[in-house]
Amino acid sequence: MTDTDFPAEGRGVDELLDEMRVERQGDLDWRGGKAFSLVYNTDDPELEKLQHEVAGMFLHENALNPFRYATLLRMEGEVVAAARSLFGAGAGSLSSGGTESIFLAVQTARDHARARGVMAPELVCARTAHPAFAKACKYLDVTQRFTEVGSDGRADPDAIAAAIGPDTALVVASAPGYPFGVIDPVTEIAAIAAERDVLCHVDACLGGWLLPFWEQLGQEVPPWDFRVEGVTSLSADIHKYGYCYKGISTINYRDPELYQRQVFMYDDWPGGLYASASAAGTRPAPPIAGAWATINHLGSNGYLRLARRVLAATEGFLAAVDQVDGVRAEPSPDMSVFQIAVDPDSDRPVDIEAVGDRMDERGWNMDRQQGGLHVMLSPGHDKVAELFGSDLQASVADQGSASGKEHTYGGVVDGA
Ligand SMILES: Cc1ncc(COP(=O)(O)O)c(C=O)c1O
Repeated sequence: MTDTDFPAEGRGVDELLDEMRVERQGDLDWRGGKAFSLVYNTDDPELEKLQHEVAGMFLHENALNPFRYATLLRMEGEVVAAARSLFGAGAGSLSSGGTESIFLAVQTARDHARARGVMAPELVCARTAHPAFAKACKYLDVTQRFTEVGSDGRADPDAIAAAIGPDTALVVASAPGYPFGVIDPVTEIAAIAAERDVLCHVDACLGGWLLPFWEQLGQEVPPWDFRVEGVTSLSADIHKYGYCYKGISTINYRDPELYQRQVFMYDDWPGGLYASASAAGTRPAPPIAGAWATINHLGSNGYLRLARRVLAATEGFLAAVDQVDGVRAEPSPDMSVFQIAVDPDSDRPVDIEAVGDRMDERGWNMDRQQGGLHVMLSPGHDKVAELFGSDLQASVADQGSASGKEHTYGGVVDGA
């Protein structure tokens, strides 16, 4: 290295691979079942083998112009069609992730409102809506209006109705929301939106690829998709419970004409027509090919099998939490995502942050949020529920004091 940060000499393949292999041993170990978000672990070596092969096979293709790659074009179309049949309707596209899908829904709603003469559009959502909405509103110059949630953690339809005004372009419901894993009352919220002639987006980034199978397992799932009148768009991430590797989500609209507001066409330059359906220009092909391969490898049966394991993990973890005096899953979740909080009905003094620290010392990676510890379960968690329960029991017993870890979710790399 010279005194600049740019490497002066190129280094050999083996040396670089060795360095990275060694260093990443210290990174999050998601295979052991002691990590909760960031990776959706199927614990399925066949699927993993397929995904590694596919990622390598399509490493260099560019989906900016899918017409140059007939295979990519077909696969993308089939993934969009699979999403359409899962959610009950819709025209739409793939995107790089939940945040991009949400950006696209907000942009579409904003432009739809502008076309109707609303020049300062607003978005109404509950406090529990994902920060991607705040980010989209910031970038797209849309005013965000928040409503408080009820004690069950769900968006309050009355509060949403009261927050809708003449400039409201979009109302949001989550299925489920990230913090508590509860599904907002989509039917009521979408009805209010329709009555006020406002678009309604369902953020099913988390639930979209699990809830259809959860329902088939006999679980009670309140209506949340295009079967609900008034839902106009829906985001759902294949890189979450669709079990593909990162970089793939779906955004769907009930009305194909509304979807057209998302599409960008431009030919006012010397380079020819530039057409693009999502925010990115150049698009990596591996997530598209990976999504297609994953969906076709698993099929409905495979998704059902994995949903059964997520359900077993959820029942196991919730039962384990239930056994520990002083904490509880609060509010009660609708899915495999929940918060462990102090139990207000127990006399046992619990510092939930300290419990998180003791769990971390026992090898768990507990995500902190303001009201407790966040848990998001994958199929691979079905084998660690008992261990989690005994470690939680021990961590409440020897909780001691908290180290003051921050409540964080994402992170920023210093760009200076
Ligand atoms: C409910 C919900 N919406 C949106 C997102 C954003 O998804 P992404 O991180 O893929 O951008 C997440 C991520 O966890 C989420 O849980």
